[in-house]
Amino acid sequence: MTTNKSVLSWVDEMKALVTPDTVLWIDGSEQQLETLRKEAIQTGEMIKLNDEKLPGCLLHRTAENDVARVENRTFICSRKEEDAGPTNHWMDPQQCYKMLYDIARGSYKGRTMYVIPFSMGPVGSPFAKIGVEVTDSIYVVLNMSIMTRVGNKIWDVLGDSNDWVRGLHCKCNVDPEKRYICQFPEDNTIISVNSAYGGNVLLGKKCFALRIASYQGKTEGWMAEHMLILGIQNPKGEIKYVTAAFPSACGKTNLAMLIPPEGYKKKGYKIFTVGDDIAWMRIGPDGRLWAINPENGFFGVAPGTNAKSNPNALASTKKNTIFTNVALNLDDNTVWWEGLDKNPPENAVDWKGNPWNGKTSSEKGAHPNSRFTAPAQNCPCISPEFDKGAGVPISAIIFGGRRAQTTPLVYQSRDWNNGVFVGSIMASETTAAATGAVGVIRRDPMAMLPFCGYNMGDYFNHWIEMGQKLGDKAPKIFNVNWFRLDKDGHFQWPGFGDNLRVLDWILDRCDNKADAVETPIGYVPKPEDINLEGIEDEVSQDTLKEILTIDKTQWQKEAQGIEEFYKKFGSKLPKELAAELDGLKARLQ
Ligand code: GTP
Ligand code: MN
Ligand code: MN
Repeated sequence: MTTNKSVLSWVDEMKALVTPDTVLWIDGSEQQLETLRKEAIQTGEMIKLNDEKLPGCLLHRTAENDVARVENRTFICSRKEEDAGPTNHWMDPQQCYKMLYDIARGSYKGRTMYVIPFSMGPVGSPFAKIGVEVTDSIYVVLNMSIMTRVGNKIWDVLGDSNDWVRGLHCKCNVDPEKRYICQFPEDNTIISVNSAYGGNVLLGKKCFALRIASYQGKTEGWMAEHMLILGIQNPKGEIKYVTAAFPSACGKTNLAMLIPPEGYKKKGYKIFTVGDDIAWMRIGPDGRLWAINPENGFFGVAPGTNAKSNPNALASTKKNTIFTNVALNLDDNTVWWEGLDKNPPENAVDWKGNPWNGKTSSEKGAHPNSRFTAPAQNCPCISPEFDKGAGVPISAIIFGGRRAQTTPLVYQSRDWNNGVFVGSIMASETTAAATGAVGVIRRDPMAMLPFCGYNMGDYFNHWIEMGQKLGDKAPKIFNVNWFRLDKDGHFQWPGFGDNLRVLDWILDRCDNKADAVETPIGYVPKPEDINLEGIEDEVSQDTLKEILTIDKTQWQKEAQGIEEFYKKFGSKLPKELAAELDGLKARLQ
């Protein structure tokens, strides 16, 4: 336990508020965790799975109305409404504290309060930040112990410092009408009530590592981004690192763990996963941009994960993993989800806890947003740098979304400010119909729409300023789109492992080794510079040319959409981005 006065007095304050019977300080020991697992198994909160096939693995089901993040109940509580900006829900902090305290008051009665000290980032790393989460849920304790670095070692690093994030979680009675996920960036505080679902209650993840940290990054001169971090080793043994921001469900976890195509494997290419969801980036002593993954595990979507789509993710879930809202196979006490294999269990229990026959039932066995919480160290391709505090130097930053049309397979921005523009106009479509009808476009700048903890206009400006500091050492900025559809609604690019072919061009561009064609939106590869060896049958030269084409009429329409979107930000829109839009419009004339 700690002697830190700010921690002790806050924990006392929380204790007086929620009035638990007992307080348990999480020390990070395996022994304490095992006691908690046993207790959760005994009360039925968790189900122990097959010890031979899934050693150390547990299953948990949440309430049926509590299965996902809730953006409409997520608030940024800055003192001034303007500081939350046009893309966030805002509440006055004093009013919000009062409302939340009224909900939380007495809510731990008869139960235990767990105090979890945790580090986002390797303990003691110059990138890392400390948090303390108070919760009444063992599920939260066990998940936090996978997703973050937890225990007494945190107190040693924290010392007497007051620089730590406070997180209060109260399960209450999981009433969706009183569910609130509130961030107070100016107070380093998070309060989450009436939920017991991962994304809402593992406060280290989206609440801290993105919403609070993005605000800290702005004030302290660094960046917290919704990005994977990937190392690519070439046959000479050189490793280059890239980060990539795609909106949720657009393939970060897939790209972060990709399996190189056969031809690349033979040549000696290797992939190393540093992170699959969040990157914290700082300018290093060498003036370059360096990144760490602040997390210690993967909180991945289960459905669709299988031995073909993402074998590395699947392998990561084979031990010491917590499954949330998947189906339970009663025959061998293992788990199943849609898309795992073509052999659903007949004698099973669905995510709601009802008897379920996967062969005959029309209901889903697993919830579409069911998840696995897996230790990063389980991943076969985890980077040797993952646990080191120094981070990895970033050569390229990649933005991307799901666009049936308009956006080419890949393009490079003209320079940093143009790259910030490219990130700011990121958009994703709801899946287009088979007829090729264009889906509804949702703008999701830098994939941070649900996660930016302050005014997004100021966030754009922070990006511009980071570029000024980085100067000619700044990573090059690219945009990719794996999701172009043909007239019949088929994907034109095979994606997944074959995305390495695009990364290959991107890294060659960073080394000035590949040529490009200048277009109004940026630099596009010459078709002959994308290596199609081994997939010539799947992707014809004509298809490749088509998905690298910029259609001026579509882009003129796109420019109108951007102009409309930019109006939201009023005077907060950086003049640099307004100039970029003007430049694009002029080049499209
Ligand atoms: P969060 O973890 O929620 O932030 O999302 P994520 O970005 O990690 O998304 P995830 O990797 O879970 O997204 C998976 C979805 O994207 C699945 O439907 C995949 O089939 C699809 N996907 C991933 N990569 C590709 C690709 O290269 N091509 C195509 N066509 N689909 C892909
Ligand atoms: Mn993911
Ligand atoms: Mn995410």
